[in-house]
Amino acid sequence: MSTERISIGIPKLDELIGGGIPRRFFVAITGEPGTGKTILCMHFIWAGLQNKEPGIYVTTEESRDSIIRQAEAFGWNFLNAVSSEDLIIVDALMRKKSDAWSLSKLTVKELVNVIIRAKKRIGYGHVRVVIDSMSAFWLDKPAMARRFSYYVKRALSPWNMTVLATSQYAITTSDAFGFGIEHVADGVIRFRRSVRDGVLRRFLIIEKMRQTNHNRQVWEIDIVEGRGLEILRPITTLSREDFSLPEEVTQKILEARRKKEEALGPTDEETDY
Ligand SMILES: Nc1ncnc2c1ncn2[C@@H]1O[C@H](COP(=O)(O)OP(=O)(O)OP(=O)(O)O)[C@@H](O)[C@H]1O
Ligand SMILES: [Mg+2]
Repeated sequence: MSTERISIGIPKLDELIGGGIPRRFFVAITGEPGTGKTILCMHFIWAGLQNKEPGIYVTTEESRDSIIRQAEAFGWNFLNAVSSEDLIIVDALMRKKSDAWSLSKLTVKELVNVIIRAKKRIGYGHVRVVIDSMSAFWLDKPAMARRFSYYVKRALSPWNMTVLATSQYAITTSDAFGFGIEHVADGVIRFRRSVRDGVLRRFLIIEKMRQTNHNRQVWEIDIVEGRGLEILRPITTLSREDFSLPEEVTQKILEARRKKEEALGPTDEETDY
């Protein structure tokens, strides 16, 4: 049985994952700030819109206007798609009461409710969903990353949707508590960055894609005005120092995080899932 695949909208990246993301997958897009996670998600939504597939974009980090403006810089008219309701952008940053597509609370239950409500509004057929970012839901409780991710994935799984969920990479969530979203997700595309000779460089690697013989190299990428994210070349010469913090810094951050979590104790929400 062949797997139906959904194009990300970046031909080279589709090729690296065997033709696209398997339909109905829940894929994590992780990485440091400014590395291209949001822009990748926009490619995915735009590829869908061009193919008459509607989209739902939940934004927690930027406002709806900011998402629309950023898309415009690459020539993607999100505003038209919002007007025709082919695209519903849920603005979870501004959280205006008068906004029909917002979140009343920044909880995973609310998140799932609003996505299902948007899916019902859009109606029959496959929908592309972006959750940008999931980290917003466990900011002050990173230990919940895995449980929250599992809840969202399971709650959305009966619906005909393929989901990209971004997560800011933090050593605290990966090292101190075990990976969160990465274990739960069907696929993981990980962004990285390094500054070499005073210049910022960006990379990505496909760390996981179930049911797929995916490429396993690190690729240098670029974000290009008017075009978006481009895959440049595979990299063979990166050293660990390009990405890691010094060991003593890592230990200090982890210790501070552990103390803070202990001081906070469990919340009502945590005992609910
Ligand atoms: N029009 C443009 N032309 C070239 N590069 C751009 C353009 N717009 C944005 N960028 C680059 O893309 C970066 C932002 O990428 P993106 O928003 O996808 O990052 P991100 O991984 O989502 O970050 P965060 O975790 O902070 O949300 C900017 O910092 C800038 O370097
Ligand atoms: Mg972003």
